[in-house]
Amino acid sequence: MPSAIYAEGLVKTFGEVRALDGVDLDVPEGTVLGLLGPNGAGKTTAVRVLTTLLRPDGGRAVVAGVDVLKHPNEVRRSIGLSGQFAAVDEYLTGRENLRMVGRLHQLSARDAKKRAATLLERFHLTDAADRTAKTYSGGMRRRLDLAAALVVSPPVMFMDEPTTGLDPRNRQELWSVIEELVAGGTTLLLTTQYLEEADRLAHDIAVVDHGRVIARGTSDQLKARTGGERVEVVVHERALLPTAEEVLRGFGEGGGSRVEEHTRRITVPVTGGAKLLAEIIRELDARSVEIDDIGLRRPTLDDVFLSLTGHAAATERGAGTGAGGGAPGTGARTGTGAESRTGTEARTGTGPDTATGWDVGPDADTGTRAQIGADRTGAAS
Ligand SMILES: Nc1ncnc2c1ncn2[C@@H]1O[C@H](COP(=O)(O)OP(=O)(O)OP(=O)(O)O)[C@@H](O)[C@H]1O
Ligand SMILES: [Mg+2]
Repeated sequence: MPSAIYAEGLVKTFGEVRALDGVDLDVPEGTVLGLLGPNGAGKTTAVRVLTTLLRPDGGRAVVAGVDVLKHPNEVRRSIGLSGQFAAVDEYLTGRENLRMVGRLHQLSARDAKKRAATLLERFHLTDAADRTAKTYSGGMRRRLDLAAALVVSPPVMFMDEPTTGLDPRNRQELWSVIEELVAGGTTLLLTTQYLEEADRLAHDIAVVDHGRVIARGTSDQLKARTGGERVEVVVHERALLPTAEEVLRGFGEGGGSRVEEHTRRITVPVTGGAKLLAEIIRELDARSVEIDDIGLRRPTLDDVFLSLTGHAAATERGAGTGAGGGAPGTGARTGTGAESRTGTEARTGTGPDTATGWDVGPDADTGTRAQIGADRTGAAS
């Protein structure tokens, strides 16, 4: 199958930080690649390079058959992007935002209106459709941004943490939208902190850390590589977590144990199967540790992530230890203020668009969508 997204040896440094340290990627047409990695791993940087928003210091990339470095403008005609921070025009209503994007992509006024109505319905925004986006909650903005990315469906889509901040219902809805897109032949590169999302949507997964791809494969391949089973124990009293952990480590393979304080759950990789459970129960009993639950299970993608990166998913890089992990969702999202930018510059076409098309500046995340695809229509120039 030909590649829709191909990258070789991508390097990008910011001062001392090597955000990309030789990244290779290959996404066959019509498939979904899930890019996983802890905060600061380089996911957004990779997306920005591949979507022509950031020029790499080294390496090469080909998207939709076009060299990203040589012909960025041409690449923009074939791609869609929903960035990590929603880029909606605050001063327009939800409906106006979507209709404007439709018009920028040369839909007729009637089609743009129809498409906007369909997407507003699909993303549960109909009730808020005629309010300005600045009155929207974070999750609503996110949904509007995703809807805007889907006004037209380009052959190659990039979504940077598309469901962060969405409630479960909207997350499910977006998953079905994505599945439909992919069934229709769209190629998608998706970054996510929700491993369940990668499990469900991604044909292939690339785990990134410190600017490098440290593992790749299907979800099943990665789980098989992580190997072994896990014993999971829920202790009755939080105070006895350390004692229980000590006991479990004695049975474990070493490394990769995880303690979740709030659920009083300890997970340890083991070999030995069900017989081991009886021994563990006896030992815990001997140490007077009362348990609420115990079980054996196969590794999940979370275990894969933990064993590869030393972090539980969705925790701040450097904040968690291998054993500590931390609750999902504790990863501090450092707001860069990007959310509040309007993207008007790119939308109104006053943004820089030089002969090379590369001078989009360091803050070009917002308004990306209008810039991307705008060349197709000439509407923004
Ligand atoms: N414009 C910039 N200037 C300086 N450093 C940057 C810039 N953009 C990214 N970095 C640094 O590059 C590294 C990779 O950042 P990137 O945003 O790609 O990570 P990420 O994997 O998307 O993380 P997250 O999960 O938090 O979104 C980080 O150390 C980050 O601080
Ligand atoms: Mg990011």
